Order: sequence, then structure tokens, then C-alpha cells
Amino acid sequence: MGPSEPQADTHATMDKIVSLCRRRGFVFPSSEIYGGLGSTYDYGHYGVLLKNAIKERWFEAMLQERDDIVALDSAVILHPRVWEASGHVEGFTDPLVDCRTCKKRFRADQLEGASCERKPSRRPGEGPDCDLTEARQFNLMFETTVGPVQESGARAYLRPETAQGIFINFKNVLQLARRRPPFGIAQIGKSFRNEITPGNFLFRVREFELMEMEFFVPPAEADDWYRHWIDERLAWYVRYGIRPGAMRVRQHGAEELSHYSSGTSDIEYLYPIGWLELEGIANRGDFDLRRHSELSGTKLEYVDPGGERYVPHVIEPAVSVERMLLAFLVDAYHEEVVGERERVVLRLHPQIAPVKAAVLPLVAKDEAMVERARALYEELRLAHAVEYDDGGAIGRRYRRQDEIGTPFALTIDEQTLADDTVTIRNRDSLSQERIALAQASAYLSDALARPWAAPEGTPVAPAAE
Ligand code: GAP
Repeated sequence: MGPSEPQADTHATMDKIVSLCRRRGFVFPSSEIYGGLGSTYDYGHYGVLLKNAIKERWFEAMLQERDDIVALDSAVILHPRVWEASGHVEGFTDPLVDCRTCKKRFRADQLEGASCERKPSRRPGEGPDCDLTEARQFNLMFETTVGPVQESGARAYLRPETAQGIFINFKNVLQLARRRPPFGIAQIGKSFRNEITPGNFLFRVREFELMEMEFFVPPAEADDWYRHWIDERLAWYVRYGIRPGAMRVRQHGAEELSHYSSGTSDIEYLYPIGWLELEGIANRGDFDLRRHSELSGTKLEYVDPGGERYVPHVIEPAVSVERMLLAFLVDAYHEEVVGERERVVLRLHPQIAPVKAAVLPLVAKDEAMVERARALYEELRLAHAVEYDDGGAIGRRYRRQDEIGTPFALTIDEQTLADDTVTIRNRDSLSQERIALAQASAYLSDALARPWAAPEGTPVAPAAE
């Protein structure tokens, strides 16, 4: 390896990811001017572009690359009986204890990993002044009231998952989209959970965007489809650059299964805080359609052309944009020494990267260069998410683009003015190529469409803190 070639070294701690997100305007703590609201975040420009790219790739895989899934966008506030039928009113709870001394709340089933507010070296309940209440069940749904009168009949909930919006529309889709099992309904939308112990940046928040797909199948095919969707979802992550060594599949034990599930596997990712659930794939059986049929009185079943009736079983891959975004950032984060200098680079898959290319005039004060650069920018932005940047020394501009993960930088220089060519710098290899200006748009389209994998020398898995 020569002195100017990058030496891969990933040290993606949570602190470094938080700091990069802040520094480059991906994610900000919410309500900051009022002192912040714990574990709530706002997304800046690059955060929005990154989230959009993730959602687009997910929808593409569900809706465009297959023809057995349709889209849905259901309401956040549903009829309260939906949550009775789904089991959330009764069972979507975590056990909670309060400390009467320090007034902190803890999950009763996670005291092992928690620490006492006054004596952080001890667990809650083990400090000299600790005075814990008995555990009680705490429902994670946010309550609200519908209409101007606060009476019990007006009580409603912000949805804790989008899945129920899909189940209650099963009949609509079956009839109006003229589908027959196996078929799926995919939805992306905000979901809300009043988590007792949110934290670890975006990993556990109270407001997040779920990407869920409910796949309705003949009961006899449920096991096969369950395995199919585990494989499909793993392959999707690999395709978009997550290193296979940083993922594993973990099957839930019987005691861990949700009330609706007859089998769940988590795709876990090695976050800097350890192996944790990124995405869940569940075999929900016929639990949801049966419950909604019972409580609503509307039959949610399929009648096949031979007249046979059955309640389809459901396979569900579910993941939040937040956990995915965090995994992409951690996986992409690299610190390297290039020549004598350190650089931080986000090696995001080009189709996930928030900005696909930057157009930079080498000398920001050179009017001819600026004019050419702006013309190229105007042309490229018709088809791609590109950025024009003439602020500061060229080295600083490259570093800025590296830190937001821009895979290509097109630099307009003296030679451009002489022969209408432009230099393309590759974020990963740092190689520079000169091509005709007229070919820049086609070059970019080709480069973005090519399969991508993390460059050689990238460690197999990020270091756990
Ligand atoms: N409909 C199934 C369902 O909601 P879940 O395991 O409770 O299942 C699905 O949640 C996914 O939502 C998880 O795999 C995770 O990606 C994400 N998720 C759950 N709670 C979250 C939270 N508090 N903050 C961010 N993401 C969360």
C-alpha cells in the first residue's frame, strides 16, 4: 500500500456518529432552544435526503421489483377498537418500577443493565437510599382525545405500529386491487411508543417511521414464506452495502414471542453498543385477521375460485427508518489516514448516499470556472441529487463531501476551460478520472446504477464499544 492510499480503520462509536450527524446537519436534538426533549430528534437536510433514499430503496424492492405487493398509507389515529382487537390495549405493556427517592423510572425487566441515579456503580434498588415501588404494567401507547370533549368515549391512540392499518384494509385491497394470496401490502409511516427507557441516539426513540409489509399467504405456505422473507431482507441489506459479517439472524425463544407471533426472527446488527435488533420478521399466523373479524363483525377471509374459504396467515418484515439509518451510518463510518492527513468518510452505497455528486469549481473566485461549474450543476440536477459547492479551499470541500458520503466529486479546473473535460474524484478509492464534460451525466447515471460493495480492506465488522 502506497503512502497516499487510504488505510481503512473503522472506529464508529455512538459518540462519533452523534457528533458527525450534528456537525453535518443530519440529525439535531429536538426542541433544543427549550432545553431539548429527551430522545426526540429533528432531521436536517442530509438526514431527510438519507431517510428518503432508504425509504425509496425499500419501496422499490417491495413494489417495483415484485408484482405481488401493493402500497397503502393508512391513518395514524384509528378507531380505538382496532387496538383492542390487536391486543395492544391489554398487552402492549412493559413492566415499570419507580424509585421513590430519586423519582427515576426503570423497566423492571432491565434492572440488570441500569444504574442507580445516586450511586451509578449500583443497580437500581441496590443503592443505600433506593426505594423501588412494586412493578406495574405500563402501556406504551400514547393516548389522545378526538374532538373537543375530553370524555372516555373520545379516547384514541397514536398508532404504535402501522400493521393494524393494513389489516383493517385487507378487504379493500382484496377487492379493489384484485389480489389473491400470496400477496402483500406495504406501508411506511410514523409510529409512536411511549418507551420507558428510550436512548442510544436513534436506536430507541418515542416517535419513529416504520416500514412494514404484511404478506398474506395460504396457511400451508406460511413456513416457506417466513423463510423466504428472512432471506430476502438479509439480501437487501447486503445489496445496499451492509457488511454480512455485521449482521446475524436470531430466532426468538418461545418466552420472548409477541402475543400475536408464532415465530419471529430478528436480523441483528452489530451496533457500537452490541448486537441488537435491526429488523424483525414475524409469522403472525391468522391472529390479526381473526381478531378484527371477531370484533368488527366483518369477515376478513379469502374465498378461492373453488369456493374454499380460509383466513390467510401473515408474514411480516418490520423495521424502522431510524434503526436502519443508524446501521447504515455505523457501517459506512471510516476514519482513514490519507498521506499525512486524517479523513472521516461515510462509505454509503451510492444509491443510499444523500447526495450523489458534488460539482466544485477548483478556484471559487474564477468566474469562468464558476460559470462552467454552475452549468454542469444545472444539467446534472435534472436527473440526480447533486450539490454545488464553492465555499472554501478545495481540500475542505472534499472533506465535507466525504463526511456526508457523496460518492463522486466533479471538479472544474483550468483544463476544463481549455478542453471541456472534468475531473471525477471517487470517494472510496480517491482515484481521479478525466472525462468529457458532455459525458458527465451519462457517466454518473452508469456509476450510480452499478453494484457496489465496501472497498477491500474494510474490516468485516465494526468495533463494539
Ligand atoms: N408490527 C411489528 C412490530 O411493530 P416491533 O418489533 O415492535 O414489531 C418493529 O417493531 C421494528 O420497529 C423493530 O425491528 C425496530 O426496527 C423498530 N422499532 C421498534 N421500536 C422502536 C423504537 N422505540 N425506536 C426506533 N425503532 C423502533
